[in-house]
Amino acid sequence: MGNEDHTGITLIQGDITGQSVDAVVNAANSSLLGGGGVDGAIHRKGGPKILEECRELRASRYEEGLPAGQAVATTAGDLPARWVIHTVGPVYSTSEDRSGILSSCFTESLRVAGELGAGSVAFPAISTGVYRWPLDDAARIAAQAVMNSSAQVPDIRFVLFDERALSAFQKAFDTA
Ligand code: APR
Repeated sequence: MGNEDHTGITLIQGDITGQSVDAVVNAANSSLLGGGGVDGAIHRKGGPKILEECRELRASRYEEGLPAGQAVATTAGDLPARWVIHTVGPVYSTSEDRSGILSSCFTESLRVAGELGAGSVAFPAISTGVYRWPLDDAARIAAQAVMNSSAQVPDIRFVLFDERALSAFQKAFDTA
């Protein structure tokens, strides 16, 4: 089932750490060792188990860190979810087109969610905070990526932190 008809995609304004879903996507950085924004909220609310597993990933599969555009799952700790899928967005650049990397954050996270058998996944607006990606453009990329993904996740949610982000994503999905 592709998402061409974008059924099963919902947009919510709120705090992603409060979403009861199978998998919450984290806007991480390559270190996987935490940060601010979504990353800080997930680690703060999810508790130390998440960081423990992130450290194990750094000691094994990702000695150099998780590359931008890739995704990897850990426990969700104390969050109302089963997994956190950590993905690293690209930092916005005016000299280089990194939209493929941003798109990959969504498709790779959905691929990992599908492999886990997650029935529901919640995405934040990846790269639109500290990584400064313009909201409208990030929303357009996210909508395209998710709607063209062949991943089998029936319930896909975008959890936007404020009204401006929510309306940017609404516009993107309406015109996608
Ligand atoms: N729930 C939902 N959305 C949130 C939350 C939250 N609790 N907190 C922040 N956001 C929103 C921001 O408003 C922004 O629109 O998530 C979007 C992504 O912002 P960031 O979290 O700053 O992520 P990003 O821009 O991808 O930068 C990643 O920031 O926090 C560090 O460790 C992280 O180095 C990494 C970088």
